[in-house]
Amino acid sequence: MSDSPPGIDLMQTLTVNLGDRSYPIYVGDGILSKAGDFLQRAGLRGKVAVITNPTVAQLYLDTVHESLSGAGFDVTPVLVPDGEQHKDLRSLSVIYDRLIAERLERQSCVLALGGGVVGDLAGFAAATFLRGIAYVQLPTTLLAQVDSSVGGKTGVNHQEGKNLVGAFYQPRLVLIDVAVLQSLPRREFIAGLAEVIKYGVIEDPALFKLLEEEIGKLTSLDRALLTQVIATSCAIKAKIVEQDERENDYRAVLNFGHTVGHALEAATHYQKYLHGEAVGIGMAQAAAISAQQGFCDQRSLERIRKLIKKAGLPLEIPREVSMQNLIQSMEMDKKSAGGKIKFVICTGIGKTRFHALSPGEILTALGA
Ligand code: NAD
Ligand code: GLY
Repeated sequence: MSDSPPGIDLMQTLTVNLGDRSYPIYVGDGILSKAGDFLQRAGLRGKVAVITNPTVAQLYLDTVHESLSGAGFDVTPVLVPDGEQHKDLRSLSVIYDRLIAERLERQSCVLALGGGVVGDLAGFAAATFLRGIAYVQLPTTLLAQVDSSVGGKTGVNHQEGKNLVGAFYQPRLVLIDVAVLQSLPRREFIAGLAEVIKYGVIEDPALFKLLEEEIGKLTSLDRALLTQVIATSCAIKAKIVEQDERENDYRAVLNFGHTVGHALEAATHYQKYLHGEAVGIGMAQAAAISAQQGFCDQRSLERIRKLIKKAGLPLEIPREVSMQNLIQSMEMDKKSAGGKIKFVICTGIGKTRFHALSPGEILTALGA
């Protein structure tokens, strides 16, 4: 694209088309050090609050700060503690305090530098501060790069449940630098791959095949392949969000593997699995249910299971997890309506349909 700064290797640009809330996503190697140029070219000016955590700040805050200052921005770093337990109203309040103390204005902006926790928090702060100021996503985990930074879901957890307080609020810009994945713990990277596999299963047989052939190269962090795979994943998510921004209908397809995955995370008190690991199991089980219900052929089921395993993700619900706990967690899921869950069924690689199932029916289908 002509309005992008030079010097980014292999950059791919896409757009989330949502009328006057449309925004670009840039994916490439070395984008972080050009963040200031990207923001400036997006028409942003003045004060920027960079929301991050100590882990990510230590690695990348100086580079981002320097780039933003160099482009004329007045930068305020705001650190929140690292961890899902800090995606809460208390951290939000700390952020508001700093935005007020530093006199950010309507024209100012927030930049989320971190994984999904920072992105969801910063996005919700931006959605609500002064009734909404611009924000930029600079995601630094694979999960955040392919999922949470795109689509405008923002929010925080409540003691009664995850993501209970939030807003749909789209960013102005998403900047994805594949180089930052070098420092990401391997377990986090592999967990992020679950969402990439999900896109292949629900929408894109060519992506699925590429993953089958090149998963080794991807886990070795080949930057050209990462750029291609992350851009393809974002394009799939963008297309789904464009059709159904507020998840009234089709966006729920993104929950493939998440019904069992979420229940498993809750049943194990969010201690045993990273989100993507639980989604790996959830996708294997959703594919098995799809085959058991007569929607999915055995060959596709085998391919899905094989790829999840090849990626290094788990496939099976551990014996120690009680089925009763899983049912209870599914019943609590805020996405269930009238006792039935809009379960995402896979009808082959790249094809899905919805099927209403009760938690009990899901467990019976699992052979529990
Ligand atoms: P995370 O934000 O907790 O990051 C995982 C860990 O990696 C953290 O310790 C973080 O400090 C560290 N880290 C981040 N980038 C790093 C890097 N480049 N190098 C080294 N360490 C790095 O976890 P996550 O998996 O990115 O995000 C999970 C969150 O995302 C959950 O709160 C979930 O609800 C949310 N989410 C939101 C959406 C959405 O659409 N908004 C979608 C999916 C998930
Ligand atoms: N992560 C699911 C969604 O954005 O809708």
